[in-house]
Amino acid sequence: VSEFVNLLPSPSSLISSLRDIGYSLETAVADVIDNSISANSRNIDILFSWNSGNPWLAVLDDGCGMTMDTLINAMRFGSTSPLEVRAESDLGRFGLGMKTASLAHCRRLVVFSKQADAISCCMWDIGLLNVSNENMWKLAILDNEAISQTPVLNYLFQEYLSKYPSGTLVLWEDMDRVREDGSEKNFNAALFSVRQHLELVFHRFLSPDAGLKKVRISMNGDNLQAFNPFFTKSLATQELEEQRIYIGGNVITVQPFVLPHHSKVSRQEYEEYAGKDGYLHNQGFYVYRNRRLIINGTWFRLIKKEELNKLIRIKVDIPNSLDHLWKIDVKKSYAFPPEAIRNELKSIVDKIVDRGQKVYRHRGVRISSRIQSPVWVRKAKGGTIVYEINNDHPLLTELSNQLPITSRALLTNYLKIVEAGFPTNMFYNDMASKPEEVRQPALDKDDLTMLLDVFLNTWSSTEMTEDEMVGKILLIEPFASQTQLVRQILANKETLGE
Ligand SMILES: Nc1ncnc2c1ncn2[C@@H]1O[C@H](COP(=O)(O)OP(=O)(O)OP(=O)(O)O)[C@@H](O)[C@H]1O
Ligand SMILES: [Mg+2]
Repeated sequence: VSEFVNLLPSPSSLISSLRDIGYSLETAVADVIDNSISANSRNIDILFSWNSGNPWLAVLDDGCGMTMDTLINAMRFGSTSPLEVRAESDLGRFGLGMKTASLAHCRRLVVFSKQADAISCCMWDIGLLNVSNENMWKLAILDNEAISQTPVLNYLFQEYLSKYPSGTLVLWEDMDRVREDGSEKNFNAALFSVRQHLELVFHRFLSPDAGLKKVRISMNGDNLQAFNPFFTKSLATQELEEQRIYIGGNVITVQPFVLPHHSKVSRQEYEEYAGKDGYLHNQGFYVYRNRRLIINGTWFRLIKKEELNKLIRIKVDIPNSLDHLWKIDVKKSYAFPPEAIRNELKSIVDKIVDRGQKVYRHRGVRISSRIQSPVWVRKAKGGTIVYEINNDHPLLTELSNQLPITSRALLTNYLKIVEAGFPTNMFYNDMASKPEEVRQPALDKDDLTMLLDVFLNTWSSTEMTEDEMVGKILLIEPFASQTQLVRQILANKETLGE
């Protein structure tokens, strides 16, 4: 090296690029809330207004607040190195979140903080960076007068921040991304999504375990309600034993849950706990870093998402001291376990999958070999599964025998098109999305009586005893799965076969 030049990044181009690292409105707001929680806040209010097409959003907390020096450093891109050891309860990692999350959605970020009666206020304004050719990272400092001239800021200070002994206000103004999205209606819809996201991501702060302090979060005055994805308040949820994985002096806890089968809870509850994209999508691990949900509904490629496992959700708690291993991203919406942990998780998953499938199959397991003459047969071979109509069903044999030979081929062909025409995809979609609404057409007492007569009449001319007839009947579908009703019908007949 013969020389060094101090080559600073161009503020306007770097910020423009950082705006597009992929923060959704949900993940961006959550990132700002992380800071409030790390600052020990008990009350966090999210306030927002469409403001006739000039929308703004503010996150206000009663946390520890910042002095001017701390605030200025906090406004720096890369305020703390990811290599620095953080307090156990700190939700931050990169020293970037507040800036990148905010500026992904607004062009003016004002941070206003109060500590020990001193107020400090700073602003990044993309507009101001763009006009200067001086390549300067011009952070604006706002004094009392500047604050009082900014109506939204002034209002939020008077109404909220001034009433707390300490706290911080993060204000997004000139929210160009939502404004481009068009209307107040879209803005409100986007904020409804934000609400749902926060109710899930921060549910363990909104409704903490015993001994931990509760955090109240509101949106325009309406308090958020914790959404616990494990549905622990239902007695029908299976809570399996917590397991621990030790890694370099740190501990990861893993607790599997099997959510209730739809027949065990009300329809409304079943749908509520399906979550935004449904059970199928939401199965898998739920990874929490310091109780804050980072990633959910993934099996980390250990197994595939399957209909049969859709009721399994596994809570994984990781400490922030293992961040480097988990590939946590800036947006706190991604994590991937290292090989050693993946192996441990795999063995836990293998054990639990069986439990989940039992709940999922519910009464289905009863379809056993007791039935000798089913209507449908399931054939699995060479990696494919087909359902076929049982050609040996006694009723079909009987029907076939009664038909003139010339018509028998027609019957066989018709059955083939019934088999081939089964709407597999439609059925699968319905079972996956709303299994509780799918009904199998049932045979009532009259149908069964009529069908029974067919068999009894045929057998009446044989040497079979009544007991033998009953025994045989009860192995044939549809009688086999309704033995009680069949016995009742038979008991009401004076003599079988008449
Ligand atoms: N609401 C707040 N109350 C008190 N201090 C805050 C608040 N918000 C931000 N800070 C301070 O500003 C710093 C920078 O925040 P920022 O979100 O940019 O980075 P981080 O939280 O350290 O890491 P990450 O990029 O992972 O979020 C924080 O470390 C904290 O010291
Ligand atoms: Mg942060």
